[in-house]
Amino acid sequence: MKIEKMTADHLDGVLEIENACFSRPWSRQSLENELKSENSLFFAAVEDGRVIGYIGMNFVLDEGYMYNVAVSSGHRKRGVGSALIRALVTYCRKNNFAFLTLEVRESNAAAVSLYSKFGFVRVGERKNYYSDPVESAVLMTLFFEV
Ligand SMILES: CC(C)(COP(=O)(O)OP(=O)(O)OC[C@H]1O[C@@H](n2cnc3c(N)ncnc32)[C@H](O)[C@@H]1OP(=O)(O)O)[C@@H](O)C(=O)NCCC(=O)NCCS
Repeated sequence: MKIEKMTADHLDGVLEIENACFSRPWSRQSLENELKSENSLFFAAVEDGRVIGYIGMNFVLDEGYMYNVAVSSGHRKRGVGSALIRALVTYCRKNNFAFLTLEVRESNAAAVSLYSKFGFVRVGERKNYYSDPVESAVLMTLFFEV
C-alpha cells in the first residue's frame, strides 16, 4: 500500500468509496475544485493500482481543517486509515501548523478512536450538525507544539 498525493487520476476510485461511506457524498466537481485549490491537500491510499482510501484537508495559514478520511470496507482495520492520518499530520508538523481540527458524528466510534490515537482531543460539540440522519458533531483538535 502506498500513500500518494491525490490527483484527478484517483477520482473514480475516491468517488466509489465516498458514495459507499457517506449519505451526503462529495460530488466529482467539488473534489476537482479541491484538487485545484492551493489551500487544500488530499492523499490517496493505493494498493495494486486501486484506490482503497483517502483523506483531505483545507488550511488557512497555520490552521488545518480536516475533511473526511475513508477506507473501503474490505480494507479496514489494517492500518490504512492510520497511514492516511499520519501523512496529513506529518505535513502539518513540517509546515509548523498550530492545529488540525475536525468534526465527526458522535456515534462514529471507529473514527473517534482513530483520531484519539493520534492525539486529537474533544474540544466541543455542534448540536444536530449532520442530516441523513440528524446527529450531533463532536469537534476534535490536534494541537501542535510550538
Ligand atoms: C474510520 C476509518 C477511516 C478507519 O480506517 P481503518 O483503516 O480501518 O483504520 P486503522 O486500521 O488504521 O485503525 C486505527 C484505529 O482506528 C480505530 N478503529 C478502526 N476501526 C474501528 C472499529 N470498527 N471500531 C473501533 N475502533 C476502530 C482503532 O482505534 C484502531 O486502532 P487498533 O487497530 O489499534 O484498534 C474507517 O472505519 C472508515 O472508512 N469508516 C467509514 C468512513 C468514516 O466514517 N470516516 C470518518 C468520517 S469523519
